[in-house]
Amino acid sequence: METWSIVVAAGSGRRFGGPKQVELLDGRRVVERSVAAMAAATVGVVVVTTGDLVADLGALPGVAAAVEGGETRSASVRNGLAALPDSATHVLVHDAARPLVPDAVVAAVVEALADGADGSVPVVPVTDSLRTLEGTPVDRAGLVAVQTPQGFRRSALADAHAAAADATDDATLVSRRGGTVVHVAGDPINLKITDPSDLAVAEALLAHHRRNGARPS
Ligand code: CTP
Ligand code: MG
Repeated sequence: METWSIVVAAGSGRRFGGPKQVELLDGRRVVERSVAAMAAATVGVVVVTTGDLVADLGALPGVAAAVEGGETRSASVRNGLAALPDSATHVLVHDAARPLVPDAVVAAVVEALADGADGSVPVVPVTDSLRTLEGTPVDRAGLVAVQTPQGFRRSALADAHAAAADATDDATLVSRRGGTVVHVAGDPINLKITDPSDLAVAEALLAHHRRNGARPS
């Protein structure tokens, strides 16, 4: 088993109002935190980004290659897949926008792959009550929210992307093709920075966990 990572950092941050991956979070860029977490747990990292950031992020410790992104997240993942070395047997795909991922979450994803799953994803309970747009209440007890990193057998992920399909995450594409995707414990601290207020929440979470014997670095 030789596990690599792809960190996708080529989004435009439309909802945030700009490229959130280069915002500072306690003095360190969001994307640098995400890359460091994946570099610590895998053999090498491929970063997918845009413009000047390709050279900039390509020079970070643990980064083996940096490549240009695509129009959609799925297209960016495909560009990352194309840059993996032949020796990679497994791959974790992580959102640059999740800078606080705890090591334990990454480890759980890798462990499920070592146990033979085609894919493994960190999940957390849904805490809001839910309704469909048509107004039908939905029981949240049967639902979970899915985080990254999402881990895959390399060939399962490559097959799922071969048809150039689009989805907001990779597990959706692998599941559609009949792959077995197992759930592991995610963590509420592993939030995705989407709106500007999420950055403030991330700063507060970082400070909170530092005070209490912190997990994120
Ligand atoms: N991403 C990417 N390439 C794209 C779109 C998204 O690499 N074409 C990355 C983002 O940089 C982010 C992750 O995928 O790290 C999750 O996407 P999201 O949170 O939706 O980020 P953005 O697409 O940048 O934000 P928005 O949808 O608000 O524009
Ligand atoms: Mg997006």
